[in-house]
Amino acid sequence: MKVSDAILSRKTVRQFSDKPVDEATVRELLEISKRSPSGGNLQPWTVHVLTGEPLKEFVADVNKKLMAGVQEEPEYNVYPPELKDPYKTRRRIVGQQLYELIGVPREDTPGKLRQLAKNFSFFGAPVGMFFVLDRQMEIGQYADVGMFMQSLMLLAREKGLHTCPQEAWARWPKTVSEYLGLADHEILFCGLALGYEDEDAVINKLHSERAALDEFVTMRGF
Ligand SMILES: Cc1cc2nc3c(=O)[nH]c(=O)nc-3n(C[C@H](O)[C@H](O)[C@H](O)COP(=O)(O)O)c2cc1C
Repeated sequence: MKVSDAILSRKTVRQFSDKPVDEATVRELLEISKRSPSGGNLQPWTVHVLTGEPLKEFVADVNKKLMAGVQEEPEYNVYPPELKDPYKTRRRIVGQQLYELIGVPREDTPGKLRQLAKNFSFFGAPVGMFFVLDRQMEIGQYADVGMFMQSLMLLAREKGLHTCPQEAWARWPKTVSEYLGLADHEILFCGLALGYEDEDAVINKLHSERAALDEFVTMRGF
């Protein structure tokens, strides 16, 4: 598979089939992803991978808390509290497109919350991952971990797999930390669901928009 095909065929999948992904495949993805660049070669990533019983047990625990109305204080804001345009509009549009696609009307807040809650079962994926950093790290190292995640998401395409990166997990810092046994100096950055796409699921048909180049690129000297 060409890199461009991997990039163009990657999309966020929000409903997975239950077909398992074997350990050798996950290890291979991680083994190659670790060649991702990082400033100063810090390799500031720590990755926790769950499948099978540990995944089921963890998801059941989180969902029990969700049902009981438990909420945790997120450790960081996924988005700035006063998101500006054009970002605010882009976020609104992708949300609208997603809910329209799955037939959840704008005013159906419980319907939207039910969809959001699916994050916390990794959208049915057979593999759930967590990306963790040392709290000492700065913005640059978060970018490094993002690059690692993108490498993994593209390599997944080569294997016919799909992914969903999940900052939604930032809502459960305590539960995730306790389950993974994170130290006080570690912070959960992002989750990621990995598996095979449920090809019948309408939610996976979403094709998110991108801005035109002249909206975000300045070229000089060409
Ligand atoms: C770091 C990161 C975190 C994300 N977190 C979530 C999430 O928690 N739940 C979710 O459904 N999508 C999540 N997404 C997916 C984005 O909504 C998606 O990438 C964006 O809408 C563009 O769509 P595409 O990935 O299909 O191209 C995340 C994406 C990134 C890069």
